[in-house]
Formats: sequence, structure tokens, C-alpha cells
Amino acid sequence: MNAARRPAIRRYTGVLAAAAAGIATLALVACGGGGGTQVDDTSVSQGDWTWALPLSMPLPKVPVNNPMSKAKVALGRFLFYDRRLSGNGQQSCGDCHLQSLAFTDGRATAIGSTGESHPRNAQGLANVAWNATLTWANPALTDLEQQMLVPLFGTSPVEMGLTNANLPTVLQRLRDEPRYPAMFAAAFPGEADPWTVGNIVRAIASFQRSLVSIDSRYDRWERGAATLTAAELRGLNLFNSERAECFHCHVGFNFNDQVVHAGTTQPRTPFHNTGLYNVDGLGAYPGDNLGLITMTAVASDMGKFRAPSLRNVAVTAPYAHDGSVATLEDVLDNYAAGGRFIAAGQPHAGDGRLNPYKSDLIPVIQLNAQDKADIVAFLRTLTDEAFLSNPDHANPFDSAASAP
Ligand code: HEC
Ligand code: HEC
Repeated sequence: MNAARRPAIRRYTGVLAAAAAGIATLALVACGGGGGTQVDDTSVSQGDWTWALPLSMPLPKVPVNNPMSKAKVALGRFLFYDRRLSGNGQQSCGDCHLQSLAFTDGRATAIGSTGESHPRNAQGLANVAWNATLTWANPALTDLEQQMLVPLFGTSPVEMGLTNANLPTVLQRLRDEPRYPAMFAAAFPGEADPWTVGNIVRAIASFQRSLVSIDSRYDRWERGAATLTAAELRGLNLFNSERAECFHCHVGFNFNDQVVHAGTTQPRTPFHNTGLYNVDGLGAYPGDNLGLITMTAVASDMGKFRAPSLRNVAVTAPYAHDGSVATLEDVLDNYAAGGRFIAAGQPHAGDGRLNPYKSDLIPVIQLNAQDKADIVAFLRTLTDEAFLSNPDHANPFDSAASAP
């Protein structure tokens, strides 16, 4: 891959730098307390937690104040799927992040516990620990603990609907779950009162850091343990070619361009406008879904979003920040045209191909029907069936056998 052709990267220095400064860089191996057993080159233990990662995957960044442990991951899994954690007891994280859909929800845009619509498409959580910023377009959200306060306490829209007023009730509901006292004690040993929002957030974040997806057929092919068809290989080569340009933004082990890991000192955090809209002929995106500009107030940030990881992308339809692209074939048609044209009379009509803020890496791309089908065939090799059915990530309330 040609590193020199990577897109010019805007560094977001303000909020991001301030947020990053607050998070001490971790020393994963040091945290291991002597338990840093090397299983293979990148398997490292932290406490009783072992990262067993292939060589292609760096160790994740873990905040020093929330080291991994098996007990925390186990508790976090229960809490992630526990509807009692929402204000009205109706919705869990797992209701919008379904394992079988790589932790997306299959909807165009999400719906919160009280029925409010979210303007955005629910994101997948595969390898979420390695994302440099979180959500579709917010450079200020740089760790999972911080991000989680949005679904828990956010009011526009309401997702889980926690408030200061209902929090005591919610915490009491959790105390009343017979499994939890032992699990909280194991996850937060020595704490007189472990029943805090901070601990709930730490446990769920630890569970999310355990969501590793690196065993798709593509990965096995890379290791020499599987084959790809001729069409899939043509698609892979096109994906990584200067003709299709995909790899500039969907690059590396996670097929995205915002990666942070244990060794990262200053993560790159580019956002891109891919020409999906142009509602006023001057580049505007519709409604309240404007992208990075909402956070930065910089005009040229209109319509810029984070490039999503493409892992498991075959099961995460519909696509884009607002779920407005139904299929992978449609995604490819938009890229080949250099943006999306929405005809007059349809919602959000306009010629996204002419969006002045569109990335230079999305010109009209010469892709014929076969090329597009080949790229889609390649994208389908990124589905990690083991991840989608891994019992360690599944809803523990679904089976009696999962009781600790
Ligand atoms: C109402 C549905 C809904 C619920 C409930 C919900 N989420 Fe989300 N989640 C979303 C949507 C929508 C986004 C994208 C948000 C955005 O871009 O503004 C998202 C984004 C995320 C992200 C960012 C992923 C990335 O790649 O950057 C994480 C992490 C996340 N959610 C975790 C959680 C956790 C943990 C909970 C429970 C505490 C939760 N979510 C509850 C809908 C939901
Ligand atoms: C300039 C950077 C850039 C390039 C080049 C690029 N993408 Fe993207 N891609 C993005 C961004 C940003 C999004 C999200 C756009 C949005 O939601 O507004 C995206 C979204 C996607 C999605 C939808 C994923 C999801 O979960 O919603 C797919 C699939 C995809 N791109 C595949 C490709 C392919 C295939 C190519 C090459 C033909 C390509 N991309 C080229 C930046 C890029």
C-alpha cells in the first residue's frame, strides 16, 4: 500500500488533545503484574485477562484506571444485556447492538427506550477498543468509558434514559438481582460500595474491549488457512488499488483509518465527506445530521464522518451514518458515481457528486458491473462467523446455563 497517497489528515488539536491528556497511556505489560505470559508474539496477560491476538493486531489501549479482568468482563457482559439499566427498564445496550448483526441493530436509525428516534445508524462494536474516536463524527469522544455516558444519560435523543432522579431506583434494581452482589464484589474487590455508575461503566467498557473480531475467511486466507475465490481476490486487489481508492480510508487490520493501540502516541483522526448529500447545492447535509461540523463549527467539516471499519460489513446493513444506503451494491454504485445523486421530488434531493466538501479520494471511479460485484464479494469475506456466535459475547439472560 502506498502510504504517500493517504489522505491529508486534519488533526483536531483542541478538544481531542485535552481529552487525550486526561488519559494516561497504559502500560499493558506492566499491569500484568508479572503475569505477562507470552503465548505467541502478541498474546499478553493483564491481571488474569489474556489478549490472544494474531500478529497483525496490536494490543489495544486500555485506560490505567480500568485494567482488564475476567470478572469485570463477565459482569460487563451481563450489564450490557440488562434492560434494568435503562430508566424505564425497557432497553439494554444489547437491544441496539445485536451480536448476530456484529452489534448493529438492522435499522436505518436507532430508537431509544422511550421511543425517540436517534438521527444515526447504530454502529457495530467489533474491535471497538481500537477506534481512535467513537461514534460517527465526534473527535472529543476518545474512550469507551466516556462515550457510554451518552447512551446512558443522553437526552437528545433519550437512549437508555438514566437521570439523576431515577438513578437510585435503577441501582436498587441491580442490587436486587441475586447474581450481582458476588459479581460486583469480584469485579471491584475491596470496594465497600461497588454499586456506582463509574463501576457499571468500567465493567461494560471491559466487556466491549473483549469484542475482538479477527477470524473471518479473509483473515484465515491471510494466515494461509483458507482460500478466496477468483472473484474475491479480484475484489481484494481492486479494493487496494489506486483505481478504486478504498484502501486509503478503509485500511489496516480493521479496515478503517482511525486506529489507536497501546503503542500509539498521537492517533490520527480523519473524517471524510463521501458525497452522499448536497441538499442546497452548496454542500449541505440534511437536518441535524451534518457530521463533524457540528463539533468543530468549521465550514469545510460539513458532511464529514468517520470511515467505519468494514469488518462483518455484510451483516451490518443498512449503511452510512444515517442508514440511508440499503445494500453493499448501493454503496458501490455511489462510490463508482463519485457520490450520490438524489433526484428532485425525493427526500433530501440534490447532487452529492458535486458536494464541494467531498473527499478528493472519491472521484468518479471507473468500475464496471463485474468490478463492483467483485468488491462486494471481497467485502463478504470479512464476515467472522465465530465472532457473531461466540458464546462469550452472547446475551447471558438468554440461557440458564450462563449463570455464574
Ligand atoms: C437506542 C439504541 C442504542 C442504545 C440503547 C445504545 N446504543 Fe450505542 N450506539 C447507538 C447509535 C445510534 C450509535 C452511533 C451514535 C452517533 O454516531 O452519534 C452508537 C454508538 C456506540 C458506540 C461507538 C462505536 C464506534 O465505533 O465508535 C459504542 C461504543 C456504543 N454505542 C456502546 C453502547 C453501550 C455500551 C450502550 C449501553 C450502555 C449503548 N451503546 C446503548 C445506538 C444505541
Ligand atoms: C475518503 C475516504 C473513503 C474512501 C476512499 C472510501 N470510503 Fe467507504 N466510507 C468512508 C466514510 C467516511 C464512510 C461513512 C460515510 C457516511 O456515513 O456518511 C464510508 C462508508 C463505507 C461503507 C458503509 C459501511 C457502514 O458500516 O455503514 C462501505 C461498505 C464502504 N465505505 C466501502 C468502501 C469501498 C468499497 C470503497 C472503495 C470503492 C470505499 N469505501 C472508499 C470513507 C471512505
